[in-house]
Amino acid sequence: MKLLLIGSGGREHALAWKLAKSAKVEKIFVAPGNGGTAIENKCENVNITDIDELVKFAQKEIIDLTIVGPEDPLTNGIVNKFKKEGLKIFGPAESAAQLEGSKSFSKEFMKKYGVKTAEYETFTNVEEALKYLEKCPYPTVVKADGLAAGKGVAICENKEEAVTAVKSYMVDDIFNGAGQKIIIEEFLEGVEASILSITDGKTIIPFISGKDHKQIFDGGKGPNTGGMGVLAPNPYVTEDVMKDFEDNIMAKTLTGIREEGFDYKGIIFFGIMITKKGTYLLEYNVRMGDPETQSVLYLMESDFVEVIEAALHEELDKTIIKWNDGVCINVVLASKGYPGEFTKGHEITIDEKVKDKVFLAGAKAEDGILKTNGGRVLSVIGLGKTLEEAREDAYENIKFVTFEGAYWRTDIGTHK
Ligand code: AMP
Ligand code: GLY
Repeated sequence: MKLLLIGSGGREHALAWKLAKSAKVEKIFVAPGNGGTAIENKCENVNITDIDELVKFAQKEIIDLTIVGPEDPLTNGIVNKFKKEGLKIFGPAESAAQLEGSKSFSKEFMKKYGVKTAEYETFTNVEEALKYLEKCPYPTVVKADGLAAGKGVAICENKEEAVTAVKSYMVDDIFNGAGQKIIIEEFLEGVEASILSITDGKTIIPFISGKDHKQIFDGGKGPNTGGMGVLAPNPYVTEDVMKDFEDNIMAKTLTGIREEGFDYKGIIFFGIMITKKGTYLLEYNVRMGDPETQSVLYLMESDFVEVIEAALHEELDKTIIKWNDGVCINVVLASKGYPGEFTKGHEITIDEKVKDKVFLAGAKAEDGILKTNGGRVLSVIGLGKTLEEAREDAYENIKFVTFEGAYWRTDIGTHK
């Protein structure tokens, strides 16, 4: 098979690596890819991001299957466009992708199908939103309706903070339109988990759970980032939590997907909050998480291409995904200064003493030399039978990966 993989992050390097392991795969074009996919077995980067150009490329190269990494092309209808041309693609159609593309749409869907989630109100009028802030309990959560590159959520401790957030979204328009509509949501206290899963529209199979570490500093301090590392499986996802999730979130979501008649053969990622009052759904993502993918796919033993094909043929009810029963963590090495300002272009060296995989993200290959090219530069994997072993392995591997100004958290896997 010839595959086309869309995206350029650490998630896509992990996807490319995993897909390349399939005996069925002969070649993977990665558009636009990064320094990791540039040097990965069977892979070749192609510098295309425009959807119409991607369609033309898939036709010219006679691509057998296209896999989409990030949310933007999905919410912009890439699946519809590929299918219209008779091209095989894995991912939800544009209408279903609004489960991630619009918070008000996804919250309405959750409410309609009884999916357990925080109470909320939707606003398109700033005066009404400000009036609501007079009487709502604090802390409260203000969310931009549209995609805001993971920055559209403000946890507000008091009215002043909430007023500032609402005004910046709705009046100053800091998200270029994505915050013109907002939701204000009940604050939930608990521990988060990422449950990536695959659906064919009739069945959902959850993957191994993950635990992201969003803040930049140890102990969960400092500003939020795209994610500084992931532990899989997530130790807070006990059997009881999983049952709660399956009954009150997953099964009801599936009913909703069926009843809405969504064309959904793709990934559905549940961001959940485990609280004293039970397990709540915070959000849907219609793609794999980054850096969740790096840990979760590392534990997948099944051929991922076969799993995807089963979804495309609506055969997930007959599919069993095999997993390594160990523990995987990935620790993100970031550029000094991230998530604020940072410099790029520093040479990256990865010694052969590294025992496990290093997935590259904000990195490019220039004349065979790897250089930093983003905030989150790469993920170093650690694998073990236990969490302790996985942590030891990851932090040992990090000793053999260098670039100027490399920063990482030292508590991945241990912080609550
Ligand atoms: P979201 O994009 O909706 O997942 O929100 C991003 C992050 O904000 C989540 O991963 C949580 O850490 C936090 N968050 C979102 N909604 C809530 C909520 N209702 N209560 C507490 N924290 C939340
Ligand atoms: N790591 C969280 C996400 O991909 O949305």
